[in-house]
Amino acid sequence: MSLSIIVLAAGKGSRMISSKPKVLHEVGNYPMLFHVLDACNSLKKKKNINLVISKTLLDFTDEIKKKYSNITFSLQEKQNGTADAVKVAIAKNKNFSDQTIVICGDTPLISKSTLQKALKHFLINKLDLSVISMIPKIKKNSYGKLRFEKDKLISIVEQIENKKTQENSDICNSGIMIVNTKKLLENINLIKNKNKKNEYYLTDLVEIFSKKKFSVNHFPCKFEETLGVNSMNDLAIVNQEFQKIKRNYFLNNGVFMQDPDSVYFSFDTKIGLNVRIQPNVYFGKSVIIKNGVTLRSFSYLDNVKVFENVIIGPFARIRDGVKIEKDSKVGNFVEVKKSQIGQDVKVSHLSYIGDSIIKNNCNIGAGAITCNYDGKKKNKTMIGENCFIGSNSSLVAPLKIKKGSLIGAGTVVNRDIPDGTVVYRKSELIKKNKKK
Ligand code: UD1
Ligand code: MG
Repeated sequence: MSLSIIVLAAGKGSRMISSKPKVLHEVGNYPMLFHVLDACNSLKKKKNINLVISKTLLDFTDEIKKKYSNITFSLQEKQNGTADAVKVAIAKNKNFSDQTIVICGDTPLISKSTLQKALKHFLINKLDLSVISMIPKIKKNSYGKLRFEKDKLISIVEQIENKKTQENSDICNSGIMIVNTKKLLENINLIKNKNKKNEYYLTDLVEIFSKKKFSVNHFPCKFEETLGVNSMNDLAIVNQEFQKIKRNYFLNNGVFMQDPDSVYFSFDTKIGLNVRIQPNVYFGKSVIIKNGVTLRSFSYLDNVKVFENVIIGPFARIRDGVKIEKDSKVGNFVEVKKSQIGQDVKVSHLSYIGDSIIKNNCNIGAGAITCNYDGKKKNKTMIGENCFIGSNSSLVAPLKIKKGSLIGAGTVVNRDIPDGTVVYRKSELIKKNKKK
């Protein structure tokens, strides 16, 4: 049995005050929409996903399609409400499966397991419609409220339509619904837009189904998973919540963090066993940390693979495709960019290593710099095994320093150096008596 998923992402997003489409704003360095699509794709059934978009997303459809091949797009010209958006998706896609999930593209924290459990609940109980529900932490909120009669869900009342006299529960609509596709298709046109916003509310389907005695129910989930983003403020809250989830995940997987609240992860950060993280460490995208690594305070890592027992920081910046092999050390105020660092290499203080390959057992002295940029392009530096690069050396790339060489302190090296060579510039140290 296969599954259809309609992802609603055509909302205006005007409260973001941003030229970027709302659902492409990032949570944990990953677009909100991709979080939602990944959760949908994690469902075990074969599925087709229909993404309802507005014109602002048209420029990004190729990029999205490249990542999610099972996606089709429907353009909603005018934002006439969530039921209208679903109608647009239905009109475009003739091959709907038996069940349809409708989900919003701006609720990035919804978990795979909640979707899986909700779907299972829907199938086992042979439901026609199930709303994923939650109880908001704040009583005064803008969510649609579930209404019950003798414990039976009978309707959802949007906040704006809420008459004070109406008896509502604290249980609210998360915005996610699972519905029998046949009945959805047969009934969606019964939804009217006679309401304060003149919009077609998908939530009205609950009352229609309930009146027809279809089996309607709700599936509760954690409020935090349903947090939606309408403004930069919401985005900050969701990002904070995302960090809490990641911190808990890593703590539960044996990562030591002295001050978890000061450590920031990305959606794809991977960390091995016996890793220690001091306060204020930032993980950008594509960071892999292997076992036994120590990350000292104020280190910034972005697109980096760090092997066993490496020590990094404090105050290290490592970025743009760096590999650091085991037992090496990248110390304080060191920047490493697009480079490979071998085993047992020490770059302990105040260096810049850019576009370089440093082989095993090298020592890079304090303040040694690879001069990789000639004003036009970036050039490469290669340093062979067992080299000693003296403090304050300037290694002018393109440059090859072959294995076992020693560069004296303060040397500007602008020619390739053969194996086992000692290199230094001769300049006398002049001593004079100070004139009185
Ligand atoms: C909606 C629900 C509400 C629920 C809340 C949860 C309705 C009528 N209300 O309200 O019960 O508690 O979500 O967050 O469904 N969209 C379109 N086209 C449109 C309108 C909206 O694609 O014409 C998309 C938006 O991009 C968004 C989603 O649908 O992803 C929900 O729309 P939004 O306007 O945010 O609805 P809420 O007022 O939050
Ligand atoms: Mg919303």
